Amino acid sequence: MNDFKDKIEKFLEAVEIVTNSFINSIKEMNSSVHIYTHLDADGLGSGAILGKALFREKIPFQITVLRQLEKEEILKISKKVKEFNNFIIFSDFGSGQYFELQNELILKENFNFFIVLDHHLPQNVSSKEDIDLIKDIHKKTFQWHVNPYFFRFNGSLEISGAGLSYFFAKSLNKKNIDLSPIAIIGAIGDIQNQGPNKTFFGLNSLILEDAQNIGLVKIKNDLNFSSIKPLNEAIAYSKEINLPGLTGDINRSLIFLQTLGILMENSNGNIRTLSELNNDEKQKITSAIIEYASIKLGVEPRKIVENLIINRYLLKNELTGSELHDMAEFSNLLNACGRTNSASLGIAIAMGDRKIAYQKSQEVLKNYKKSLGKSLNWIQDNQKIQQMEFIQYFFGEDVIPENIVGTIASMLVFERIEGFDISKPVFGLVKREDENVYKVSGRAHKKIVSKGVNLSQAIREACELSQLDVLGGGHPPAAGTKIPVDKVDVFLENCNITIRNQLKSK
Ligand code: C5P
Ligand code: ZN
Repeated sequence: MNDFKDKIEKFLEAVEIVTNSFINSIKEMNSSVHIYTHLDADGLGSGAILGKALFREKIPFQITVLRQLEKEEILKISKKVKEFNNFIIFSDFGSGQYFELQNELILKENFNFFIVLDHHLPQNVSSKEDIDLIKDIHKKTFQWHVNPYFFRFNGSLEISGAGLSYFFAKSLNKKNIDLSPIAIIGAIGDIQNQGPNKTFFGLNSLILEDAQNIGLVKIKNDLNFSSIKPLNEAIAYSKEINLPGLTGDINRSLIFLQTLGILMENSNGNIRTLSELNNDEKQKITSAIIEYASIKLGVEPRKIVENLIINRYLLKNELTGSELHDMAEFSNLLNACGRTNSASLGIAIAMGDRKIAYQKSQEVLKNYKKSLGKSLNWIQDNQKIQQMEFIQYFFGEDVIPENIVGTIASMLVFERIEGFDISKPVFGLVKREDENVYKVSGRAHKKIVSKGVNLSQAIREACELSQLDVLGGGHPPAAGTKIPVDKVDVFLENCNITIRNQLKSK
């Protein structure tokens, strides 16, 4: 039996069990559905897919977006489940809290009307190699809980929360196949297109096939620069392509392009974007960059191409050059909305709004980019990164808002920020306005994840060692938690110890 096929079959059966239980419960309850989802692009994508699917079935619903499904939130929810008697869907979180949900909702409240569609490592599971524990959790929770690790899929890479919501929606009604692009946008938001040239793995590839088969998504080989910025800026400020001599210098980048004989101004007098260039022009730029990097910088052409040429995922029905055309930009727009208290705009856009919500989101996006730029510059200019032997960390002080500290940590690690050391994980900490705690976001580059670093496990262990009664976790390269302000030193010490142990034991 083909292993992949077998895994998929089992996974789809599991989705169907949960869908049937949902359909039966809804009939019995005769009330609306309450969707709880996460505030990032993947969470908003999940919410939009579920919302759209329920709308099509004429099932009333409401969506609540949370920064995380923390213990306090679960307690708040459990207090009112009986009163409101809504069916609850938890998407893009819930696995890392499955034990709490089971305790608070099923055991204490005798409330069974909920499901979890999540791709994070389940609570108490250290890694995907914890096979016995994963099997046990699957056995105990399969009636209400779908998680890719139950079927030996890697939840960090092969499917996102939006992907799980998509399979649920498709099992509810095959017509929901047209929601597949949103699932891909969610996966891009969670940086799951990590194959060569930004390709997808596993269940995500199946979703992408759906999106291509129904003609909604087109894949194009393209240069790995922003498709919507003036091209000289896109080259100069690329976080992924480093070309000493051009990087950081928009004037030299413009001259470089002009000397190739490419007309760089469009009819409005603006500098052209990548999306405005034709294939011949792109080909010229590709050859010139390969030549520049190999002759001037001595980089092997194969290495350059790996990074320079990517799969660009395009929504065929969106306007060329708009944020919504390039699915990576779409995902960025959702993230911007979710992380700046405008989640409802993001969900509306993902559900199809191209008028008011889309217009409003332009301002949100502008401010979000400004806020990211300001935060990153502040960290670099003031050398805010502090070092321990096996980890590094920074405090956001009153500059970095809580909801973007994770994005800042991601940018430091995944976007080749000059001078940043990717050989150690980074932890960003920001004091919450409404609680005496620090929100913590940890990120690790795949180079150290492959050497044994697992932040989900490290954060959980560090919380335990520090005797903190909080939930934490996520994925090996990205995880989070919150910790009381007075425990920060001991927590960081313990993170340092757990990471040291992870690196030693591999
Ligand atoms: O909050 P942050 O962006 O740093 O979280 C990184 C990853 O860890 C996200 O996928 C998030 O959903 C997950 N996480 C979690 N449990 C927590 C905090 C974060 O699963 N308590
Ligand atoms: Zn996610």
